[in-house]
Amino acid sequence: MDSSEQRRKRKRFNKLHAGLFRLRSLTMLLPFLIVLFIVTSHWSALRERSFHPVLKVPNLSFLPSGLQALGSYDAGSSALVVEDRILFPDHLLVIVSSRLHPSESLECVYYSHPAAGGELQQVVLKPAISVDEFNGGKSIVRCLLPPVDYSATVNLRRSGDGVVDGEWLLMNNHTRAVATWDRLVYEAILDWNSTVVLFAKGLNLRPHVESDKSHFRCHFGLSNFDKDEGFVFTTEATSAAQEVIRCLLPRSIWNNPEKAQGIRVTVSHFDGTQGGVDALPLPSVAKVYSTNSYQQRREKYELCACTMMWNQASFLREWIMYHGWLGVQRWFIYDNNSDDGLKEVVDELNAENYNVSRHAWPWIKTQEAGFSHCALRARHECKWVGFFDVDEFFYFPQHQGQAIAGPNSLRALVANYTDSPTYAEIRTTCHSFGPSGLTTAPSQGVTAGYTCRLHAPERHKSIVRPDLLHTSLLNVVHHFRLREGYRYLNVPESTALVNHYKYQVWDTFKAKFFRRVSTYVANWQDDQNKGSKDRAPGLGTVAIEPQDWRLRFCEVWDTGLKDFVLANFAETATGYLPWERSALL
Ligand SMILES: *[C@@H]1O[C@H](CO)[C@@H](O)[C@H](O)[C@H]1NC(C)=O
Ligand SMILES: *[C@@H]1O[C@H](CO)[C@@H](O)[C@H](O)[C@H]1NC(C)=O
Ligand SMILES: *[C@@H]1O[C@H](CO)[C@@H](O)[C@H](O)[C@H]1NC(C)=O
Ligand SMILES: *[C@@H]1O[C@H](CO)[C@@H](O)[C@H](O)[C@H]1NC(C)=O
Ligand SMILES: *[C@@H]1O[C@H](CO)[C@@H](O)[C@H](O)[C@H]1NC(C)=O
Ligand SMILES: *[C@@H]1O[C@H](CO)[C@@H](O)[C@H](O)[C@H]1NC(C)=O
Repeated sequence: MDSSEQRRKRKRFNKLHAGLFRLRSLTMLLPFLIVLFIVTSHWSALRERSFHPVLKVPNLSFLPSGLQALGSYDAGSSALVVEDRILFPDHLLVIVSSRLHPSESLECVYYSHPAAGGELQQVVLKPAISVDEFNGGKSIVRCLLPPVDYSATVNLRRSGDGVVDGEWLLMNNHTRAVATWDRLVYEAILDWNSTVVLFAKGLNLRPHVESDKSHFRCHFGLSNFDKDEGFVFTTEATSAAQEVIRCLLPRSIWNNPEKAQGIRVTVSHFDGTQGGVDALPLPSVAKVYSTNSYQQRREKYELCACTMMWNQASFLREWIMYHGWLGVQRWFIYDNNSDDGLKEVVDELNAENYNVSRHAWPWIKTQEAGFSHCALRARHECKWVGFFDVDEFFYFPQHQGQAIAGPNSLRALVANYTDSPTYAEIRTTCHSFGPSGLTTAPSQGVTAGYTCRLHAPERHKSIVRPDLLHTSLLNVVHHFRLREGYRYLNVPESTALVNHYKYQVWDTFKAKFFRRVSTYVANWQDDQNKGSKDRAPGLGTVAIEPQDWRLRFCEVWDTGLKDFVLANFAETATGYLPWERSALL
């Protein structure tokens, strides 16, 4: 009895429940499926790290190209506003208009080219390769190249940020075409006499000589907001050589050149013989930048150094501490995409009162242009600037055991010519050192480690007066053309030399040329661009150590600098050199 009533009750309940379910299924099915779709697609969006589409968004290319942001990015103080995108052979560089923290975890967002006839566009996320500070409070973010059939108009988002939808896609303006590295104005520095110096790829000017400045014109945008894509002011070039064009500023701001800051600028090259028909201006990611924006020092440093480096952080301490002792006061490090903790070494040296600044220089194969750029930057602060690499060390030979070098010797040498009406460059001869019989990198550093070199000197290094360089800033292998009326001075080999630790132990030598490449290859999508030369520049053949590497480039044993360093720098009790401490870390 009891149980049959219960059974009946249960039956009625089940009937009711089934009815409710039918009702519910009618009203709830649609939203439920939508929620399910969103949840699953977001789950996969966060989980996927490979080049598989993770989400589909409506075809947005029907929107008028002038259409701007639908709303501003609402993620705290620094929005990820993409100013420019540059396609390099092996990565995509994205310029962001705000300063991002280098440890910030970003994702690059790729969009498929909408397939013909289809309605959906596919989206792929990949972690960014790196984030770095850039000129004037900006950042650069490097992304992998887009997958085949995906647009190079890549956007960024913070890892873990939720929504990737159509509205978000529109938040970064898509009107500016993606630049390619072979044809591009990439930097622009405000300079004296109401000029701006442009750095450009793709002009293909004759190397090592000045070009005819009358074939160039510069074009300035309207404002730093890029509202109008057009360039409205055109000015004459006052010099042109290799990748560097100097132009006048628009006349309207001659009295206030700082007003040019932030304005986009480009250059056009035309053939003077054809009646001067302008070619189209080069694409440009360059906005006028003033290197003089920080406080002008009361008094200039006597001696500074410019160098460009890539993944040589472990050599920096010795190089800076040694030359700091010789009198270099200020350092400009142009960082060519290092990923070996260079920033940390620089911070550490600054904490020890060395004045070192690191400048991101993502422009590959632009050494001469980088030196011109550094000369402009250093000129506000320095009377003399040395251009030499982190494996090059100035050395004052001893004579009959008599030390002629002491602290600040190098500074004293150049200071002797600061008021010279003749000399604007001081040249010092180089000796190239080999592995010196070693097979592992010397823990005491290169100066105490390598002691065998080639007999004949190779080339020389220059220390120049940055205010007396030729206006073209023309330079070839560390050598600048000087302003008319100025000459260089050769320092006798008996006074000073440069020890160039050019061929070190095999691992160092190999790394110097291949480390970056292998980093890229490791990260690379296997099914992409196989066999492309761009994938692995220089690694076409396997790098194999020649059997007698350690004995190569060894003609003369030369312990001069080693003896000098041990005598002047080694701690008496332990024999440790001051730069060794950190090398152990
Ligand atoms: C997207 O819209 C554009 C412009 O209307 C159109 O030409 C293109 O075919 C569309 N693509 C897809 C996949 O619908
Ligand atoms: C600036 O212009 C003046 C006059 O033309 C010239 O004498 C001077 O050398 C120029 N300065 C530089 C740095 O070019
Ligand atoms: C898009 O461009 C407009 C005007 O050109 C500008 O006001 C806006 O800030 C830009 N938006 C983004 C996200 O860059
Ligand atoms: C760094 O610069 C300051 C002045 O700005 C100077 O006093 C100091 O000596 C410099 N440091 C070194 C190691 O030269
Ligand atoms: C920077 O690194 C790249 C890649 O390793 C190399 O090709 C280039 O010569 C380096 N130097 C400059 C100035 O770009
Ligand atoms: C300084 O320069 C003068 C003249 O140019 C020269 O005679 C002298 O030897 C130089 N001194 C040093 C330390 O180089």
